[in-house]
Amino acid sequence: MNKKRICIVGASGKLGRYMVRHALDRDYDVVGVCRPGSVDKLAEFGDRITVVPGATNDAAVIARAVADCDGVLTVLVPWGLKNYSSGTAQAVLDHAEPGARLVFSCGWHISLDGKDVYSRSLKAQVTIGGKIGKWLRVADIEDQVVACRRIFNSDTRWTVVRGSDLEEGESEGLPVWSHHVGDAVLASNRTRRIDFALFMVEALTNDELIHVAPAIVGCRTESALANG
Ligand SMILES: NC(=O)c1ccc[n+]([C@@H]2O[C@H](COP(=O)([O-])OP(=O)(O)OC[C@H]3O[C@@H](n4cnc5c(N)ncnc54)[C@H](OP(=O)(O)O)[C@@H]3O)[C@@H](O)[C@H]2O)c1
Repeated sequence: MNKKRICIVGASGKLGRYMVRHALDRDYDVVGVCRPGSVDKLAEFGDRITVVPGATNDAAVIARAVADCDGVLTVLVPWGLKNYSSGTAQAVLDHAEPGARLVFSCGWHISLDGKDVYSRSLKAQVTIGGKIGKWLRVADIEDQVVACRRIFNSDTRWTVVRGSDLEEGESEGLPVWSHHVGDAVLASNRTRRIDFALFMVEALTNDELIHVAPAIVGCRTESALANG
C-alpha cells in the first residue's frame, strides 16, 4: 500500500519539529516547509523528510510542497507585519489537493462562533500583547484572526486547533478538548507542546474534527482530570 503523504508548513519551529516526529512515527511520507535560514533546524531528520525551503506565505513554494499530499499541517504564527499568517493560510487553502485534510494551529484567542468566554487575564494578554507586538513591528495578532476567518469560510476539510498556554516536557497523551474556551475542562490552561503536536497529527484521521475549532488542554491537568 502507498504511504500517505503529508506536508508540514512551519516544520522547523518547536511545534513543527514535534509534528514531524509524530508523523514519521506514524509512517507518513513527510514534506516540510520552512524559511531557508531554518533548514538546518531539520537536520536531525536527515533524508527521512523532504524539505522545501521558502517563505510559508509564498504561493509557489506552498503549491510545490502540498502537491499530492493527503493532509497539510500548518503552523499559523502572527510574526511580522506583512500578513504572514493570512498569506500562509490562503496559500494552503488555494493549493492543497481537493479533499485533502487541512489542520491549522493557533491559540485560544481565535473564536469560531463568538461563544468563547475569556478570562480577564487572557483578554488583557491578547490586547496588550497585540499592541506591543504591533508597536515593536514584530507581530500582528489581527492577521492570525484574518487567517482563521478565511479558513472558517472555506469549503475545504479544515480543522483549527486552538492551543492553551504551552510547556515543554514528556508526552502526557492526547489532549482533551472543548468547542468553547470557558468550559471547565479547559480551566488549567496548560498543554505540553509535544501533545499539541500529537493532537494536530491525530486530527488528520479524525473526521469528527472537520469544520471544528477544538480548544485543547493537557489530559493530565487538574481541570481535565476533574471534568473528564
Ligand atoms: N507559544 C505559546 O505559548 C502558544 C500558546 C497557544 C498557541 N500557540 C500556537 O502554537 C503554534 C506554535 O507556536 P510556538 O510558540 O510553539 O512557536 P514555534 O512552534 O516555535 O513556531 C514558530 C514558527 O514561526 C516561525 N517564525 C518565527 N519568527 C518568524 C518571523 N519573523 N517571520 C515568519 N515566521 C517566523 C518559525 O520559523 P523558523 O523555524 O524559520 O524560525 C516557526 O515556524 C502557533 O500556531 C501558536 O499560535 C502558541
